[in-house]
Order: sequence, then structure tokens, then C-alpha cells
Amino acid sequence: MARLSSLFQSSIGKKVFMAITGLALLGFVVAHLGGNLLIYLGQDQLNAYGYKLKSQPVYTLLWFARAGLLSIVLYHTITGIRLTLQNRSAKQYAYKKPTTLYASVGARTMILSGLVILSFVIYHLLHFTFIATDPALQHLVDDQGRHDIYTMVILGFQNKAISFFYIISMVFLWLHIGHGGSSVWQSLGFRFEKYRWVTDNIGPAIATFLLLGNASIPLSVMLGIIQLP
Ligand code: HEM
Repeated sequence: MARLSSLFQSSIGKKVFMAITGLALLGFVVAHLGGNLLIYLGQDQLNAYGYKLKSQPVYTLLWFARAGLLSIVLYHTITGIRLTLQNRSAKQYAYKKPTTLYASVGARTMILSGLVILSFVIYHLLHFTFIATDPALQHLVDDQGRHDIYTMVILGFQNKAISFFYIISMVFLWLHIGHGGSSVWQSLGFRFEKYRWVTDNIGPAIATFLLLGNASIPLSVMLGIIQLP
């Protein structure tokens, strides 16, 4: 037990737990995009998916998953902030010259992109989960009596300012995962020279897939490609 607690406290331990929690969050974001893309199949498919997630016993499991996700987000955010502050104070004494010459923009802006994503998620939950920011999105039901997620998302993205906010947030998510999705393998000790092309490119590849998939939804609404039923 004492060993586990000192592993939690050490910088290496923190990096490993950051990597594990980061991978769990990445899994959620990829799965969530899979659900979101059902919007292209139409109102019935998207609403049926949302309805299934809220039916028993899946809904009970969903609450456990939500509690797990929240704890992971909290751990990942707090530890990310602590590691950044720790690195900054260590660098202040160790180096006189800037050391970020070869670090990518993504690597240098992890804390900024992470905090933008956190702000986005808070807004996004108020927007589509708690439906607290726009009264026009409340109490929407389809002709089968299900929560009309399809209409809610379209009405939500017909507001151009909100759509742009989503798209800009997705660019920050791209930056964050573009770096984190590759550096995670080094933190976990899986960055072998032979497979370096895989570990180096997997982050940018997943990040680009997420950017294109997620940003395409507000864009398609604004361009009239996805329309109200
Ligand atoms: C354009 C892109 C996105 C769309 C259209 C979208 C859509 C939605 C919708 C409709 C819901 C509510 C589902 C319901 O209550 O039935 C939701 C929930 C949620 N979204 Fe998104 N989302 C997008 C991007 C993201 C991203 C990038 C993240 C994370 C970084 C995210 C995190 C969440 C979370 C945590 C929930 C709550 C899940 C739950 O309570 O079960 N979303 N999203």
C-alpha cells in the first residue's frame, strides 16, 4: 500500500497514471464520436441509440461509467496541472536557455489545450446533457416519444457562434491528442525503436480522425447538409 502511494507521488508514477487516465478518456472520446456520427444516418438512428443507452440495465452501467469518467477527468486535470507547475519550477533553476526548441506546438501547449477542452466539456454538458443553456432545446421528443437528440443537436448548431466555439475546441482537442496520443506510449514504456513510426503517428492519426468527425457535425448543420426532420 505504501509502495502504491509513493508511486502515485513520484513524477514517473504521475506520468504513468496520466497516461492510463488519458487512454481511458481517449477511448471515451472515440466511442462518443462513433455515436455522434449516427446523425448522418438520420433522426431515427440517433434517437434510437440515445434511447438504448438510457434503457435498463445499460443505464445503471452508464451511471457507473459516468462516475468513473468524472473521477478520471478530475485526476487527469489535477495531476496535469501539478506536473506542469513541478516542471516549470524545476526548469527555472536548471536551465538558462529555452529548452523547447524541438518540442512541437502540441507538446508545448498541453496544459493550455487541456484547460480549453475542460472548459468545452463543462459548456457541452450544460448545452446537451443538462440542456441548461438554451430553453429552445428542452423537452424535445420525436414521434415515438423518445428524447429527440437529432433535433436538439441541429437546433444547437444552427447558432453559428456556438458552432464556431465547438469547432475551435475540436482544434484544441486535436492538438492535445496529437501529442498525448503518441507520448503516452513513452510514459508506459512501449516506445520501441522498431515500432516508433506507429507510436509517433498514432496520436496525430486519431486526433485528425476526431477533428474531422466531430467538426463535420456543426459544419454540416451550418451548410444545410444535415437538416431538421
Ligand atoms: C460536435 C461534436 C459533439 C457532439 C455533436 C456531441 C453530442 C453530444 C450529445 C447530444 C450529448 C448528450 C447525449 C444524451 O444525453 O443523450 C453528449 C454528451 C456528452 N459529451 Fe458530447 N458531443 C460532441 C463532442 C464531444 C467531445 C469532443 C467530448 C469530450 C472531449 C464530449 C463529451 C461528452 C460528455 C462527457 C457527455 C456526457 C455523457 C453522459 O452523460 O453520458 N462530447 N454529447
